[in-house]
Amino acid sequence: MQRVRLAHSADELLATQAGFGRTVDPLIDLCVVSMAKYMSLFESDVESLPPNVKDKLIKLLCIQGHLTDSSIRQVLHPSVRILDLRDCEVSDSALQSISQCKQLKEINLNSCKGQIRTSITSEGVCSLALSCPLLIKVLLRGCCNLTDAGVLALAVNCPQLQILNLSHCTSITDESLQALGQHCSSLLNLDFSATLVTDSGVQGLVNGRYSAKLTEINMCRCVNVTDESIEAVLKGCPHIRILLFHGCPLISDRSREALGQLVGPNKLKQVTWTVY
Ligand SMILES: *[C@@H]1O[C@H](CO)[C@@H](O)[C@H](O)[C@H]1NC(C)=O
Ligand SMILES: *[C@@H]1O[C@H](CO)[C@@H](O)[C@H](O)[C@H]1NC(C)=O
Ligand SMILES: *[C@@H]1O[C@H](CO)[C@@H](O)[C@H](O)[C@H]1NC(C)=O
Repeated sequence: MQRVRLAHSADELLATQAGFGRTVDPLIDLCVVSMAKYMSLFESDVESLPPNVKDKLIKLLCIQGHLTDSSIRQVLHPSVRILDLRDCEVSDSALQSISQCKQLKEINLNSCKGQIRTSITSEGVCSLALSCPLLIKVLLRGCCNLTDAGVLALAVNCPQLQILNLSHCTSITDESLQALGQHCSSLLNLDFSATLVTDSGVQGLVNGRYSAKLTEINMCRCVNVTDESIEAVLKGCPHIRILLFHGCPLISDRSREALGQLVGPNKLKQVTWTVY
């Protein structure tokens, strides 16, 4: 099976060389495709590969959704900057391994729409936050076992955080938003839809020292937020461009009117809500 595949690859390689005069890149790519396919056979060899080859392998395994807690340990290297794990089944154990990537800027752990990711908890997110202070973008949609402790660790240790997705992290409360408002001087885009956040959390976020930079807030399906949250955002966030709050039954026409005056060029670009 493997032999057949390799012979086929050699044909492809020759064809590519003849057609385009390229040599080295296609060979690396073909090897990486084979390694990704037969990862378990190459386990002992992967660790010593150079970073540029590992990067290709990581990219491929991520797209295929095949990166796991055990394979990620072998392919990571200290200068990895972006990890898109949204299609991969990984747990806190992968986050422990990722802690070697001190340069990490973006991590996508969003669960697929309508699904949850139970194996990521605050334990893993705390170790990520402590080891990766350069994080700019952290996507955690549907991590329902993540608690405020994990978000607090991100807020305190990752001062460059700009984009954070906590949507459907159903254990998240006001404490997370208060911590973000207090510590995150760079935060631009925050999604806390379908969490336990109430007015007090939103006020903590937008009355914090740094809230003025926020441009996008999604608080859809936070059933306890009221008009007071909308007023606080409009007052505390002069650069807000996108404000989403449908599925919030306590928000009334009063907010809609206040917002109506703000929609226009260079003002709010997108607002969605539900009228009850
Ligand atoms: C995550 O939450 C589920 C229920 O939502 C629970 O059964 C499971 O034990 C939790 N996992 C961890 C690692 O805490
Ligand atoms: C965050 O999650 C929400 C809800 O599923 C989604 O609409 C949004 O695109 C996500 N944002 C990012 C940056 O991943
Ligand atoms: C939201 O409001 C309901 C009803 O008023 C209350 O029982 C519940 O405790 C509130 N939830 C939070 C997180 O404050």
